[in-house]
Amino acid sequence: MLLVKLGGSVVTEKDKLRTARRPAIRRLAGELAAVRQPLLVVHGAGSFGHILASRHRLNEGGSTPAKRAAAARVQADVRDLDRLIVDALNAVRLAAASIPPSAVLSLDDGSVSSMDLTPFLEFASMGFTPVTFGDVVRDVRRGFSICSGDLLMLELARAFRPDRAVFVADVDGLFTADPKRRRDARLLDKISEADLSKIEFSSAKRTDVTGSIEGKVRRMFEIAGHTGECLIVNGNVKNRVRDALRGRRVVGTRIARGP
Ligand code: IPE
Repeated sequence: MLLVKLGGSVVTEKDKLRTARRPAIRRLAGELAAVRQPLLVVHGAGSFGHILASRHRLNEGGSTPAKRAAAARVQADVRDLDRLIVDALNAVRLAAASIPPSAVLSLDDGSVSSMDLTPFLEFASMGFTPVTFGDVVRDVRRGFSICSGDLLMLELARAFRPDRAVFVADVDGLFTADPKRRRDARLLDKISEADLSKIEFSSAKRTDVTGSIEGKVRRMFEIAGHTGECLIVNGNVKNRVRDALRGRRVVGTRIARGP
């Protein structure tokens, strides 16, 4: 089993509200099909989630009528993006079975309180490709919370122990500093927890409601503990995702297991 997360920055225009990158979605679906191995697919929300979630401060929970309306809107929007991705996967005969986190997962102050993995296990065993995504979900303490695709990657890695987990980003991997701001930023080929202090993390963009890059990297170490291999690759480079999933040596950052 292989686990892949299509990041929101690759499948959407992150700064343009509800704007999908349809050609990238189609190409990546083709690359996933070319791997010819059972897959679990997670995708981020990008501009179908972060912009409104940040505008209405949905990561803080709260249950006013205005917040509920915004939460419901974001839930509907991320389903719209999911529909585009599912259609692209079905077009290449990956038999996508979409499993919305809002239906199967509940959080407790942002951490997983319960998750029904049965739909994932059963659809996967029947030869479907389970697909899930960053969403607004129930939170027993906050009312609702944002659930990131990264948190779903962790839960699925724990349950399925995939051979490989691949994070698909719009950059080559993790750099010593933000490559979009610093020309001297260097790509890290492999990173272990001890290397974290060497990275100059820039503060996360204002619209990123699911936390800092550093927090995401820490979660990746946890995911790496449940997978044979864990890496970040650039989904904007043709066939890189395909080759990474096949286990070829590609440009990217490998996340080492353990401390
Ligand atoms: C975000 O999920 C979920 C919502 C904002 C509703 P992710 O954090 O996994 O999405 P990307 O990959 O950063 O866009």
